[in-house]
Amino acid sequence: MNVENNSELIRRIGELKREKNAVILAHYYTTPEVQAVADFLGDSLALSVQAQSVDARIILFAGVHFMAETAKVLCPEKKVLIPCPEAGCSLAESCDAREFAAFKAKYPGHKVVSYVNTTVEVKALTDICCTSSNALKVVESLPADQPLIFAPDRNLGSYIQKLTGRRNMVLWDGACHVHEEFSLERLLTLKREHPAAKVVVHPECRAYIVEVADYVGSTAGILDYCGRSDAREFIVVTEAGILAEMRKRYPEKRFIPAPPDDETCGCNNCKYMKMVTLENILECLEKESPEIVLDEEVRRAAERSIRNMIAIR
Ligand code: 13P
Repeated sequence: MNVENNSELIRRIGELKREKNAVILAHYYTTPEVQAVADFLGDSLALSVQAQSVDARIILFAGVHFMAETAKVLCPEKKVLIPCPEAGCSLAESCDAREFAAFKAKYPGHKVVSYVNTTVEVKALTDICCTSSNALKVVESLPADQPLIFAPDRNLGSYIQKLTGRRNMVLWDGACHVHEEFSLERLLTLKREHPAAKVVVHPECRAYIVEVADYVGSTAGILDYCGRSDAREFIVVTEAGILAEMRKRYPEKRFIPAPPDDETCGCNNCKYMKMVTLENILECLEKESPEIVLDEEVRRAAERSIRNMIAIR
């Protein structure tokens, strides 16, 4: 982080937060300088839970669009700001609500479990949301003979299907552009170069990457595992933004980012998360805009599926 250049921006953001009674929630995939101005840093489950207990007039969500939408669904009385509304998510974009409604209609009697990486309209068509932290618990909370639709991440869906042995689970065909791009060949080379390193993998990765993992979990799960493991080195197979928090929490350990297929890149970054900057956070706080505004009927329907998730966390 370039403190010299950023210190004035950071000071001004802090001042506005106090003046306007605002809090900043940030995801681990944002840049280190954005993480530095956050009041709460977390994975998508922790941030949803945090949003509902925040005591402030304004929530500024330093993350991608569906995360800010989730906060607004849970806190309709608060002003929820998104510094960069163009910061989307390839998973949410892969699941259009109209197409999803038509898909759902083909499977009567199925309950819908959707990842939080969806639009508010898809959440409104969902029975229970989940995140990568609690997807297994959510699916296991439903009777084994209950047919399910799991959307939109086919990799997380197949991973859960494998863990639970459920055959009655229909998967929507979506994927995360960041997690799908890891190269097995380059990962195996890294493993040979660092034989003592543990491989930690996000479940949005493809099955052949998950197979070589020592630990599979959400960003928060990976962080905890790296803390409790005796290993000194970890090969990290998720978005590279998480490395900042890993190095801060465990400075005595070494974290090596896993590379994508593209030989010119050493690690995988989510271009959307990196669209959130100190500059657009400051401007957003100054103008109190852009703001998340939702249709009340859709919000209520989406709230039910998110609250169902939080209840079985
Ligand atoms: P987490 O649930 O681990 O925060 O995952 C967030 C995400 O959007 C991954 O693509």
